[in-house]
Amino acid sequence: MTLLAIETSCDETSVAVIRDGKVLSGIVSSQIKLHAEYGGVVPELAAREHLRNLIPVAQAALGAAGVAVAHLDAVAATQGPGLPNALLVGFKAAQAVAFALHKPFIGINHHEAHLYSPWISGEPPVARFSEFQPNVSLIVSGGHTLLVLVSSELKHRVLGGTIDDAAGECFDKAGKLMGLPYPAGPLIDQLAGQGNPRAYDFPRPLLLDAGDDFSFSGLKTSVRYFIRDHPALLNDRKTICDLCASVQAAIVEVLVIKTIRAALRNNVRCVTASGGVTCNSALRSELNLACSRNHLALRLAEKSLCTDNAAMIGILAERKLLARVPLLPLDEEIKPGWALA
Ligand code: KG4
Ligand code: ZN
Repeated sequence: MTLLAIETSCDETSVAVIRDGKVLSGIVSSQIKLHAEYGGVVPELAAREHLRNLIPVAQAALGAAGVAVAHLDAVAATQGPGLPNALLVGFKAAQAVAFALHKPFIGINHHEAHLYSPWISGEPPVARFSEFQPNVSLIVSGGHTLLVLVSSELKHRVLGGTIDDAAGECFDKAGKLMGLPYPAGPLIDQLAGQGNPRAYDFPRPLLLDAGDDFSFSGLKTSVRYFIRDHPALLNDRKTICDLCASVQAAIVEVLVIKTIRAALRNNVRCVTASGGVTCNSALRSELNLACSRNHLALRLAEKSLCTDNAAMIGILAERKLLARVPLLPLDEEIKPGWALA
């Protein structure tokens, strides 16, 4: 089966071509520079940029795969959750292609797709669906922080999520308080590498709570008060690095400990992680350490597949088509608030 997949839920325009479980091509055009000027994603600008970029990105993906539109067997797109106008661009374009070709169309939940990105490839390398194991999956991005029990392929249950800010949002907002540009997450990661994670003690919210929910707004607020009370720290590069390392350590400790605890409680032998924050080097290494200490296998999505991409949408869509899930009518609408159950 050769399938075209489109992802436009937020600020990446992405198109992938999938054939028989392999990603023939996956192109991602990021709008990060455009939104950086505004300190966050501007929904109207994101949608306009998708409109501008979608056709060239689709042409590039089809070209790189060496596949003509006429040879597609199915089309998939992200149906939700996401920014309404951004979702509309990719979803309606995908429906139009399916309509013109008289081929099946399938709408995919963006978060469900994140659950499978560590099985496309990743660390350790060469993951395949045939290696799939029941797992507890951490999805951690700028908009979401979720723990999901994936008991078998296409079967999952959300264990918990953030009750306020997402982990990526906490990185970005803490960085903004330190005067770092948006999105601050990658820069905090870089500066933290030169800092002392034990320099300042920030709270680890809900760490002692036995449930699987997260909370990061209190941590952000404590960074705000700390900087208000010690403004001179921001004049010195060394103390900024220490601050980055300390904030990062607090976020990572909460994510790692709660993920491992959920895996052990649910008797799975495997942990996976994806979403933009999974690019964080401390999160990757701490998850690695904690999993080996607890005899758990770990699959981390490859960095390029942690952030939003159409390859994960296409891979999941193909599995769903093979499992004969009901197809969507071509007048089906987007679901901007589609929460994973
Ligand atoms: O998944 P993603 O590209 O977009 C959505 O939010 O859906 O994730 C972006 C988030 C941002 O908050 C960004 O700061 C964070 O992921 N991020 C990181 C790193 N790379 C991206 N946070 C910490 N360390 C990183 N290396
Ligand atoms: Zn995402």
